[in-house]
Amino acid sequence: MPSNLNKANLSRIRFLDGKRLFLTPLAECDLESTYRWFHDKEFVDLVGSYLQPTSMAKYRDGFDKLLMSCDGKTRVFLSIIHKSSGAFIGNVSLDGIDQYERKAAFGVFIGEKRYRGKGYAIEAARLLFRFGFEDMGLRRIESSTHVLNKGSQALHQKLGFVREGVARQQYFYGGRYVDSIKYGMLRQDYQRSLKIS
Ligand SMILES: CC(C)(COP(=O)(O)OP(=O)(O)OC[C@H]1O[C@@H](n2cnc3c(N)ncnc32)[C@H](O)[C@@H]1OP(=O)(O)O)[C@@H](O)C(=O)NCCC(=O)NCCS
Repeated sequence: MPSNLNKANLSRIRFLDGKRLFLTPLAECDLESTYRWFHDKEFVDLVGSYLQPTSMAKYRDGFDKLLMSCDGKTRVFLSIIHKSSGAFIGNVSLDGIDQYERKAAFGVFIGEKRYRGKGYAIEAARLLFRFGFEDMGLRRIESSTHVLNKGSQALHQKLGFVREGVARQQYFYGGRYVDSIKYGMLRQDYQRSLKIS
């Protein structure tokens, strides 16, 4: 057993349990890692956010609001816990859940860089999609990424998203405006992706 095993994380609720990961509701203890990630230029560039030096007090304020908005009805925001180390490595989310149109917007990040490229985003997204389509009865999940984020594009393709369009000059990135690719996944796309994977 590794000496740096995070036992506290391993004792958290296993809301969606996978092979190498489990997903648990975002919690107060996740604050410091996300603060670090959102002050990393490479990370914020990839997610299409902005590098803003924020005091911990101010960041905590926003984080607390995010925690309070995770009601499971309009937003599902889950932390990804790596089972063999107990590390908190990233987040997956369904935002803007629309009960009438039965759709939601997908988000994912693996904040801990050493855990990237190991199939963890795929595993976490598939756990979330099973919950979204099969338990919440969603009909459509949508997403987007900017054109320079090759990793995110590969991930969307692998997950079975359909490229639906381009929003021109959506993000300011590296001193210029870049396009955003819009993706959508209908329930039938999701079911097809299960047969392929
Ligand atoms: C994009 C991101 C979520 C991918 O997570 P990950 O755990 O590394 O992805 P996975 O290992 O599950 O890989 C999924 C697929 O994408 C491919 N991929 C991942 N990163 C890649 C990269 N940088 N370039 C090219 N392909 C990449 C993988 O090869 C894999 O496809 P394959 O199985 O056919 O080989 C992660 O790099 C990340 O969090 N980046 C910073 C934040 C971000 O970009 N979030 C998405 C915003 S829309």
